[in-house]
Amino acid sequence: MGKAWYMDEDTSDQRLEHHKNPPEFISLDELYKKTGVEIFVLNVDTYKTDGVLDKIRKDRGYSYEDELVCSKECFGQAYEDKLKSFYTEHLHTDEEIRFVLEGSGYFDVRDDADRWIRINVTPGDLVVLPKAIYHRFTLDTKNHIKVKRYFIGHPVWTAHNRPADEMACRKEYVETQQKGFAAAAF
Ligand SMILES: [Fe+2]
Repeated sequence: MGKAWYMDEDTSDQRLEHHKNPPEFISLDELYKKTGVEIFVLNVDTYKTDGVLDKIRKDRGYSYEDELVCSKECFGQAYEDKLKSFYTEHLHTDEEIRFVLEGSGYFDVRDDADRWIRINVTPGDLVVLPKAIYHRFTLDTKNHIKVKRYFIGHPVWTAHNRPADEMACRKEYVETQQKGFAAAAF
């Protein structure tokens, strides 16, 4: 299940864990309070029939769904470039919603003091990054992840690289972050 920790400053291979020394973990509740990121832990073996995912989709209006695999095999020669592009800090004007089916990876998000928090996602984790949060993604050293993507309405995947502080959605996010996110929904 999703675990999160503060990252070290080391700039070596982005696919490593990058723990601080000693490690500094952050609970999912604290993660939500600081960033608005929500993580639901689903059963990857029964999600098609147990109704948990269906309820989340219905409650939140996720009308679009697709599936994709990111791996060394899939991207071939372009893999290193893909890794770099996923890892460029950016935001979106909508939520980024991913449900992990296979493999693993890291979503990195900024906390309220602009420090990187690394979120380790594994099968069963459904991650909702709020709109306008600065973030990035990387595969880990296993180089394989399969996810479902969800979206409310017609999908827009456009990434706005940092700095994007003047965007209305970003200003709104910062305001909410300063006020504090509402009680965690898990
Ligand atoms: Fe993104």
